[in-house]
Amino acid sequence: MEHQFDAIVIGAGLAGLRAAIEIGEDSSVAVISKVFATRSHSGAAQGGIGAALANEEDDNWEWHMFDTVKGSDYLGDQDAIETMAKDAPRTIYELEHLGVPFNRTSEGKIAQRAFGGHTSNFGKAPVKRACFAADRTGRVILDTLWEQCLQRDIKFFDEFHVLSLIIEDGRCCGVIAYELATGKLHTFNSKAVLLATGGAGKIFKTTSNAFASTGDGMALAYRAGAPLEDMEFVQFHPTGIYKLGILISEAARGEGGILRNSDGERFMERYAPVIKDLAPRDMVSRCILEEVRAGKGIDGKDYVHLDMTHLGEEVINTKLAEITGFARTYAGVDATREPIPVQPTCHYMMGGVASDVDGRVVLDAEGTPFEGLYAAGECACVSVHGANRLGCNSLLDTLVFGRRSGIEIRRFVQTADTPKASPDYAKKEAARISDLMSRDGKEKTGSIMARMQEVMMDKASVFRLETGLTEALEQIRELQESYRNISLQDKGNCFNRDLLDALELGHMLDLAEVIAMGALYREESRGAHCREDFPDRNDEKFLAHTLVRHTDDVPQIFEKPVTITRFQPKERKY
Ligand code: FUM
Repeated sequence: MEHQFDAIVIGAGLAGLRAAIEIGEDSSVAVISKVFATRSHSGAAQGGIGAALANEEDDNWEWHMFDTVKGSDYLGDQDAIETMAKDAPRTIYELEHLGVPFNRTSEGKIAQRAFGGHTSNFGKAPVKRACFAADRTGRVILDTLWEQCLQRDIKFFDEFHVLSLIIEDGRCCGVIAYELATGKLHTFNSKAVLLATGGAGKIFKTTSNAFASTGDGMALAYRAGAPLEDMEFVQFHPTGIYKLGILISEAARGEGGILRNSDGERFMERYAPVIKDLAPRDMVSRCILEEVRAGKGIDGKDYVHLDMTHLGEEVINTKLAEITGFARTYAGVDATREPIPVQPTCHYMMGGVASDVDGRVVLDAEGTPFEGLYAAGECACVSVHGANRLGCNSLLDTLVFGRRSGIEIRRFVQTADTPKASPDYAKKEAARISDLMSRDGKEKTGSIMARMQEVMMDKASVFRLETGLTEALEQIRELQESYRNISLQDKGNCFNRDLLDALELGHMLDLAEVIAMGALYREESRGAHCREDFPDRNDEKFLAHTLVRHTDDVPQIFEKPVTITRFQPKERKY
């Protein structure tokens, strides 16, 4: 089946929906999503969205910019960070006008709370900068934007999985997608394609991410020749529910929750005397694991306690109700009376498809655009998060750069000609699917996936070493070989989960290889990338973005300079 639109958006999370609203102003746009739109992972975002509104305390965009640069361990591009911090208040008021039900202060202003790494006066004290709707902030923004899309008659293709990008003479001019309900292939011709498919947390065994977070957009771009940037920077959120990884929002600590070790000690006081439990995530995750290594995990195990018992029912019920429910359901804990068992969980990819502040995917260190291809949200690397993202800057990133991508795509499609793909693209994908379905190899998708997740968790998560990373890279490459020998049990055309798992696993194996390569290459510790064999940050050698380009042989690494405007790199103390 053939379709024609000015623009295609892949992914129905916040970046994709915000871009679609913009493009839909005067151009035809379709949103393709492998899950029903409102099940996108943006809906799982809990704690808030950062903006220097100064509704509760003195604040301004320059402090927000500084915190983001420092939080990024000076790897974020400062021109992009300035764009985001300046645009944040406008973004919040726009959401308010679209109908997002933010919590309010007693004066009726949008309420704000503290979050990790957000400070006033360039690091002097914590500041309340996170705007929130209880602990369901992503959920309410996603539902609001989806309603806005419906009101504008934006066309959705839900439960369609994109198989490949159509590239003609170096220009992206559409996609081939697989309809999950029927097994039919669809060709979408378009002048522009926006990748907004979110992250890839499922590469790791313990994650806060949804099942759908398998890095599809990153892998599609990578396979089409676009470089991936800074993929070695993987964020582990300090407070996932023990063994399950389900997120317990940093908002718990923003509202006064405290991390305690087996002695009941508030150990973060020792590591970050000024902002304590509100230090940035990379630090807090490492501190938790240091406590565990020192034998101070609870009952000698690899977790600590998050104590909210002193916050009182009013705060818990009005601001932290969702996570209290998660603690009850998944850990069997009444958080008003008992601490929650928590451990670091893979939460966010700082890296992604190399792109600029207007969403244009770039091909090289000079910023040459990949014509017709755009990326926004977690699947993109603009780069505003550098080596470590601050809480509440992810929702902001999706909306600021989703909108900017939409504006740029609208401009581009006004003058671009209308391409039409050759039928060969669909034929090639049909042959690929039929080959996958007919293989009779001995390997099973599920067991390769479990091995990949274990290897990445053991050897490429919070603490890293050359030996472990080398083994991880070898093992991922062996798993890529095993993947050639898989067989599927389900040969049907209706919601074939077996096939989808196999396609997603192919994407994740590509990305796991890039993560391990980047982590091995970067012989320093910066932000979330902690090399125990190179414990210091090394600005002389590594104050640079790493980019990895797909080649038929071994993927190629190259570098790009970091943009530094206002804040020179300094030691990062909290
Ligand atoms: O902890 C949280 O609520 C997560 C927020 C974020 O990742 O920005």
